[in-house]
Amino acid sequence: MSEIIVNGGKKLYGGITVQGAKNSVLPVLAATVLCQKECVIHNCPALSDVNTSIKILRALGCGCEAEGNTVTVDSRGINAYEIPDNLMREMRSSIVFLGAIIGRCGRAVISSPGGCELGPRPIDLHLSALERMGVTINEEHGYLICTAEKGLQGAEISLGFPSVGATENIILAAATAKGMTTIHGAAKEPEISDLADFLNSAGARIYGCGSDCIRVYGVERLGGTEHTIIPDRIAAATYMACAAVTGGKITMCNIMPSHMVSTFWVFREAGCEVELSGKSLTLSAPEHLKRVPTVRSLVHPGFPTDAGPIIVAMLTVAEGTSVFVENIFENRFSYVDELKRFGAKIKTEGKIAVTEGVKELSATDCKATDLRGGAALVIAALTAYGESRIGDIHHIERGYDDIVSVLGALGADIKYSKD
Ligand code: EPZ
Repeated sequence: MSEIIVNGGKKLYGGITVQGAKNSVLPVLAATVLCQKECVIHNCPALSDVNTSIKILRALGCGCEAEGNTVTVDSRGINAYEIPDNLMREMRSSIVFLGAIIGRCGRAVISSPGGCELGPRPIDLHLSALERMGVTINEEHGYLICTAEKGLQGAEISLGFPSVGATENIILAAATAKGMTTIHGAAKEPEISDLADFLNSAGARIYGCGSDCIRVYGVERLGGTEHTIIPDRIAAATYMACAAVTGGKITMCNIMPSHMVSTFWVFREAGCEVELSGKSLTLSAPEHLKRVPTVRSLVHPGFPTDAGPIIVAMLTVAEGTSVFVENIFENRFSYVDELKRFGAKIKTEGKIAVTEGVKELSATDCKATDLRGGAALVIAALTAYGESRIGDIHHIERGYDDIVSVLGALGADIKYSKD
């Protein structure tokens, strides 16, 4: 399935259930390395990144089986501490296995992680924190050889930037370290709280997630647990934009409104009605979207950087000019050139994208550049009249659980290419 083919111009109507969160299930699967009894994880989305995590767990000697949206992991048989290079390169999240492997095995060998090309994806914050916890890190031929001779020690850590991955890695390393670890300037994303909930249900003692100061009291060992992954707030925003850009009306079940407050206002500003009822949301789109003067991506609880490409794509057909400011990553506009192939009028300068809304987009052939950039192309294709073909969809499959079936259920004329 190398392409997604869309015949655009159809309004989306109907109801869907939002998938489990990619950016939660990945660190939770890494966390199972620390658990000395079986873990059962529900609401796991069917993603290529989840498959990669399962391969990493198996490479470490853990038992790991996936059945539908449930993944069962038994790490009692762990017998390795090196992540194969080909698996490290497949996704960014492979880096959060580092803290868990060192916590369980006292050592780890990894190469540089892969993931979306959003500018340099440094791991300096991860490594400096682990060194403060007693890890010695040597680089040899592109590999990081990490050892904690005296085991991991709790430490006082201040993050220069509230990095999501670094916060997760520190929590994983601290969960069974000796003593207490305090993370000042921690990231507050909901996925971090979900990771802590998973670990605490297995016997960890982690407090303060959701704030910028997290305390972890190391425990001797972690048992097993059963956990349900939180809904994916970025996938939810994606499907909202799909409905908004087609002038449709959809209801989404299984969302966490409190995770999405910073996103709702953009849709309302664009003229959409967003009604909440418990864990469900109904979005009714206007005939014509209105411009949103300025949207800035910020760390949580600000507007999420991952929803940036989604909103820029949606506003390509809004009336007026909208500005998007990307404050988190250095190079997150690689999808813009592909959007321009649809006739979108977007100018980028550094971290700013200025979109002048057009009446309609025209179908075209294009290629996904990264995960959320790929989703932006799907959004554009849904509103572009004619047949669009989107290539390099492996980027999209990293983070969206069968986006074609989900959109097809809402009335989109969308399919995978024959091959
Ligand atoms: C996580 O990436 C998410 N990925 C990203 O989602 C998300 O965009 C990002 O957090 C921000 O919310 C997963 O959770 C798997 P960061 P992560 O560390 O952890 C700099 C998606 O589309 N930085 O918070 O890599 C970094 O360069 C993906 O689902 C350092 O300088 O993000 C960036 O500018 C894309 N040194 C900023 O911090 C470090 O050691 C944010 O990075 C680490 C990060």
